[in-house]
Amino acid sequence: MPEQFNVGIIGLGVMGQRMLARLDGHARLRATQVWDDDPQAVARTLTAYPQLTAAANADALISAPGLHSLYIATPPAPHMTLSNRAFDAGLAVFCEKPLTVDFDAARLTIERIAREGQRAAVNFSLASSPGLAALQAAWREQPEGLLGQAQALRIELAFAAWPRPWQAAAGAWLSQRAEGGFTREVLSHFVFVLQRVMGPAAVRSSRPVYPPDGRGAESGLSAEMTAGGIPVSVAAGVGGDADDFNRMTLRGSLGEIELRDWFGVCRRRHGEVWDKLGDAAELRTRGQVDQLTQWVALIEGRPHGLPDFAEALAVQQTIEALLAGA
Ligand SMILES: NC(=O)c1ccc[n+]([C@@H]2O[C@H](COP(=O)([O-])OP(=O)(O)OC[C@H]3O[C@@H](n4cnc5c(N)ncnc54)[C@H](O)[C@@H]3O)[C@@H](O)[C@H]2O)c1
Repeated sequence: MPEQFNVGIIGLGVMGQRMLARLDGHARLRATQVWDDDPQAVARTLTAYPQLTAAANADALISAPGLHSLYIATPPAPHMTLSNRAFDAGLAVFCEKPLTVDFDAARLTIERIAREGQRAAVNFSLASSPGLAALQAAWREQPEGLLGQAQALRIELAFAAWPRPWQAAAGAWLSQRAEGGFTREVLSHFVFVLQRVMGPAAVRSSRPVYPPDGRGAESGLSAEMTAGGIPVSVAAGVGGDADDFNRMTLRGSLGEIELRDWFGVCRRRHGEVWDKLGDAAELRTRGQVDQLTQWVALIEGRPHGLPDFAEALAVQQTIEALLAGA
């Protein structure tokens, strides 16, 4: 195995830039090739990272000699096509969520991955978070431990505006119903956590609120599901003062565990704060470092904790059921 793995990046918007910054100086992963179908995005990237090579197109990037892995940070529509081309070239694929909104293409891709032993994972950032590990431990310890017996889970999201300010430069797709919206963009991370810890979720009822133009993404969503034998409620919407409020609370007969502000964790026993695992920003950094470690394991064909395409499709099926309303 080489000491360093060469990574190609397709999609140089908000997430592509974030990943380039994370990879910068990493001991095992080195971004080498980039491509975006917006020439300005390519030009901006080369100004910031002159050591990178811009490919002539997606196929040229994927077939570049010496490449080991492809990171896909485009909007969802091309995810399956690009993944399959990368498998053809023998690359390990790390793809952004949402996996896709084309379930048939996803199923065919998942069958191929299983048949050919392809290496593929999806970037749900909470997969490498201390909060997920704490939630899994609390769930396993039932009916002892922090929770006692789990009783209910609640997910709350609120955004002063959608898209959020840091996404101002992202494409129009983010605010449109076909591929965007906060249910796919944000709720999916928490549904991933929910399903990894508690198993498949069943949507009992869902009330998305859409703007009258028929094109805009949802402005609100309230829903009830069940997972792991307990009720799960969702209250999400555009409103309030916070740019990005998120909180996921698992309540039990003795205590509760709360994930908030993405990476923050608070555990309470009998209503009293038992502990906080640490500062949310520091936990985020730990999670991001761990994510790259897991990516290396994926490339090397070793066990890792990143979600595979089947797990990501299961998340997306729940998300699309919520968006369809029930
Ligand atoms: N894991 C996370 O925490 C997280 C956070 C934000 C966004 N995302 C996901 O990352 C992906 C990208 O989101 P973003 O916010 O960076 O969007 P963005 O609009 O900022 O960037 C997307 C880029 O992809 C390019 N692009 C579109 N189609 C392409 C194609 N066929 N070939 C090459 N380039 C193409 C666009 O020109 C643009 O530069 C989405 O799937 C989004 O859901 C994940």
